Amino acid sequence: MDSTLLRYVARRRPVRWRLLSAVAAGLLSLAGGLACAAEPKDVEAGRTLFMQATTPACAVCHTLADAGAAGTIGPSLDELKPDANRVAQAVRNGIGVMPAFDALSDADVQALAKYVSGVTGGAQ
Ligand code: HEC
Repeated sequence: MDSTLLRYVARRRPVRWRLLSAVAAGLLSLAGGLACAAEPKDVEAGRTLFMQATTPACAVCHTLADAGAAGTIGPSLDELKPDANRVAQAVRNGIGVMPAFDALSDADVQALAKYVSGVTGGAQ
């Protein structure tokens, strides 16, 4: 690149960035809107699984604000913010003293994984 082009790029950049962040902000709020619209059923199913539909219940051992859970045997999921895959792995295979939840269907594991990662801000 010659210096004229570099200067041109340098001058152009701020405008491009501003445009880009405006577009990104737009997309984010759109995604946020969609997530909210799709939320209630999924989140409710995940919360129920977390609170009571597994044996033993996740809530017995984990803290998770969204579920009103305050267990302290396992790590606080609010702090850990696991992504969906990490939750699914832990639930399927167990980890440390946490048992594997063999009785759960794949759909239940996925619902739990999405729920926990979703409400803690972990990536999907
Ligand atoms: C008997 C107590 C207990 C129950 C019930 C339990 N966990 Fe755990 N969980 C733990 C402990 C202890 C750890 C930490 C294990 C370690 O790192 O050695 C853990 C770790 C985790 C982790 C982090 C895994 C990682 O990669 O670090 C996730 C996510 C998790 N549990 C989710 C769940 C979910 C979802 C449920 C319900 C299906 C559940 N747990 C039920 C005790 C429990």
